[in-house]
Amino acid sequence: MKALVTGGAGFIGSHLVDGLLGRGHSVTVVDDLSTGVCDNLAHLQPDEPLEVIVDSVLNESLVDELVAGADVIFHLAAAVGVQWVLDHPIRSLETNLRGTEVVLAAADRHRRKVLVASTSEVYGKNDSGPLREDDDRILGSSKVSRWLYATAKAADEALALAYAQERGLPTVVVRFFNTIGPRQTGRYGMVVPRFVDQALSDEPITVYGDGQQTRCFTYVGDVVRSVITLTETPACWGDVFNVGRDREISMDGLAQLVVDLTGSRSKIVHVPYDEAYRGGFEDMRRRVPDVSRLRRTIGYAPDTGLEEALFRIIAAHPRQPSTFRVP
Ligand SMILES: NC(=O)c1ccc[n+]([C@@H]2O[C@H](COP(=O)([O-])OP(=O)(O)OC[C@H]3O[C@@H](n4cnc5c(N)ncnc54)[C@H](O)[C@@H]3O)[C@@H](O)[C@H]2O)c1
Repeated sequence: MKALVTGGAGFIGSHLVDGLLGRGHSVTVVDDLSTGVCDNLAHLQPDEPLEVIVDSVLNESLVDELVAGADVIFHLAAAVGVQWVLDHPIRSLETNLRGTEVVLAAADRHRRKVLVASTSEVYGKNDSGPLREDDDRILGSSKVSRWLYATAKAADEALALAYAQERGLPTVVVRFFNTIGPRQTGRYGMVVPRFVDQALSDEPITVYGDGQQTRCFTYVGDVVRSVITLTETPACWGDVFNVGRDREISMDGLAQLVVDLTGSRSKIVHVPYDEAYRGGFEDMRRRVPDVSRLRRTIGYAPDTGLEEALFRIIAAHPRQPSTFRVP
């Protein structure tokens, strides 16, 4: 199989490339390196069937050509990270709306299978317990920049599903919940790499808000396994799947776990949202996926424990702790 991975030099994309190559597929990556880096693919051997093209998914003629040459497209390219999106709102909207339009239109012309990466952010402020794919989205005002990422991703989902319904195009939408693993950068607001960087430098670990808000963290290897299996499962086409692990932890609990695992001397400090981000930032107290649809469809849902995932992240970090508690 020939796979096209947009955003393949990013965090999840590069692990997906590893997974596809490991299964004997050939892979083309298109990535503009806005948040991704070629280093994420540097461990791969030169004789692997991998081609990396540094360009944008907004380049329509290029995308048309690449889609024509692929059997399946994994569309992961996007402006990602709360901080990055807040700093670049126009570019984020352009990439996340127009980029997906370009990819889906090309897939339709060439009748190719497409997986579109979406996000648990589309549920917005709905924090009502395990979230099912058909649950309501509760978004704040369009004047609050926080919601522009969710708005664009929800439009991507609607477009992918419209192609499936109206044109019979095999499309599938995956909503990733907080995905973690080696190669994820803390630069754009991702919490786990930020906490690990701070702990390994013995700097204060900065928890935003009161630290009682909870999230569920999923190991990237589990995410890769889920998305590849979905594209091999005809029953998934035209549908939406939560991809995540359904164990919750508070941000205070996460910070303490990182301190314990690294043996860090870091103190845990709380920073109000208005100081961490621009004023008017909104957040949700909890966000838990219901993964029963994923489990029913592919017979599997992510299950790597948080301690194990953190262990792998810390082990891959360039700065190593003096003591390291193996879970
Ligand atoms: N990491 C998570 O927890 C998470 C959660 C929900 C959804 N997602 C989604 O998963 C996908 C991958 O996210 P990630 O965490 O690996 O982030 P990432 O920033 O590491 O990956 C995104 C990649 O897309 C590339 N890119 C951005 N604009 C592009 C453009 N115009 N053309 C080509 N490439 C472009 C970036 O350079 C980067 O390599 C994204 O679609 C994101 O919305 C991620």
